[in-house]
Amino acid sequence: MSDELPAVSSRRLFLALWPEPADQQRWAALARQLRGGRLVHPDNLHLTLVFFGSTTPQREACYRQTLAGLTLPELELELDTLGYWPRPRVLWLGPSCMPPALPELVAELQNRLVACGHRPETRPYQAHITLARHHPGPAPVFPETAPLRWRPRRLVLVESLSTPHGVRYLPRHEWHRD
Ligand code: 2AM
Repeated sequence: MSDELPAVSSRRLFLALWPEPADQQRWAALARQLRGGRLVHPDNLHLTLVFFGSTTPQREACYRQTLAGLTLPELELELDTLGYWPRPRVLWLGPSCMPPALPELVAELQNRLVACGHRPETRPYQAHITLARHHPGPAPVFPETAPLRWRPRRLVLVESLSTPHGVRYLPRHEWHRD
């Protein structure tokens, strides 16, 4: 076996703001209304902050230790925009106006985790909640009369697990607001 293969126990991890089930249901209802593509299961709807990919247990322990005591800032997102990325064929929901606290939080997470060997994303942060994959595009016009307002209260370290029934997201650790 090659030394370059990842350890068997590596996990595919990312940090996300995780909505309450009622938020997920509202977003899923919007996605059903729009049609097109393969809808993300309501339980899987989330907003990724930092993607890590394959992560060793040692690296994960460092991330968790480094983020111990993290306080999630007060955030309010007005989800009022639908976007479409042609190459991954993803239809997403997001805010047209980014509250500065969100990219600031992403930058703080990235910067803190450099000490663990994490290499920060160089592309600007794009807040998006993937609603559907394999979507033909283009993005439909946002059909709601008012934005979907969301105040995230949970930051979660999540494992992405591929199963025969599709991807499952398993929380590994949570930071709550209050
Ligand atoms: P997506 O919804 O746009 O595919 C778990 O896979 C989460 O991490 C999803 O929110 C996914 O975004 C995101 N993700 C997957 N691969 C990524 C990558 N290479 N860079 C940034 N985010 C990624």
